Amino acid sequence: MELKEFAVGVATRINAFMQSYIEKLDDAAPNLKEAMSYGLLLGGKRARPLLVYATGMAFDQSQDRLDYAAAAIECVHAYSLIHDDMPEMDNDKLRRGHETVHVKFSQTLALLAGDALQTLAFEFLSDKNSGLSDKSVAALTRILATKAGYTGMCGGQAIDLDSEGKHIPLEKLRVLHSKKTGALIRAAVLMGAYCSDNVTEDDIATLDEYAKWTGLAFQVWDDVLDVIGDTEVIGKTKGADISLDKSTYPSLMGLEKAKAYANECAQKAIEVLAKLSVDTSLLEQFALFTVNRDH
Ligand code: IPE
Ligand code: IPE
Ligand code: MG
Ligand code: MG
Ligand code: MG
Repeated sequence: MELKEFAVGVATRINAFMQSYIEKLDDAAPNLKEAMSYGLLLGGKRARPLLVYATGMAFDQSQDRLDYAAAAIECVHAYSLIHDDMPEMDNDKLRRGHETVHVKFSQTLALLAGDALQTLAFEFLSDKNSGLSDKSVAALTRILATKAGYTGMCGGQAIDLDSEGKHIPLEKLRVLHSKKTGALIRAAVLMGAYCSDNVTEDDIATLDEYAKWTGLAFQVWDDVLDVIGDTEVIGKTKGADISLDKSTYPSLMGLEKAKAYANECAQKAIEVLAKLSVDTSLLEQFALFTVNRDH
């Protein structure tokens, strides 16, 4: 199947799933519910749910069994973006072509919407209707918690903020990117795999290696888009990294080398997939997509 067609199906499915769940939340705090819904549902490529579905389906899981994991990772991702845009972090006004959550609502609500989306992720994972085995739920919970937290995304964000206005070694930038973005990409792939009770540890190791390279490619290309993208198309303000003097691949290596490195990472991801005996065509196409996208 073509990735484009698969991506449209995934986005439609996960959007409907998340929207119906959010609508059913009680109305005790309508302002918070509105901010959560805005930050979660308005736009976005749904790349992480796509990886959950593509990986899980390669290991014979039905889409029904993957919905809860896909929603969980997207909630954590949405929370990370809401907080990432706040004045205390990247201070961005535009996200997914719309005002950022703190601009549209308030900083307080942005903070709370992020917090509540993070915990909503674990509500999804522990939902009795997920159809997942207890073993899968335990594995998914641990993966999401660790990849989102201190050793993963949050840890990367802390290094990112500490690296503004500095010339850091390339190796440190690789660690930064692997954590702030790579960790949730790895979580998405591993969560898709662990929805199956039959995946082997060898398969997991291979998928993790694939996801490490893909996650790095994804963030290097995100850095590239800050330089060559169009604000209208990327849905965020072009040049934001440059204004903040962020440590990025283009800033450390130059634009052309950064582009070439992103492509190398994607190729490494694809090479790793040869070790798997299942159909990895969608994962291969996704790795290529990360470095050919315009948004
Ligand atoms: C943007 O992620 C932030 C990064 C981690 C690079 P995406 O490029 O997946 O953003 P959306 O979800 O499509 O808006
Ligand atoms: C995103 O890094 C990392 C997380 C949100 C965890 P960026 O700060 O580069 O993402 P964008 O460019 O704002 O989407
Ligand atoms: Mg940031
Ligand atoms: Mg940012
Ligand atoms: Mg960026």
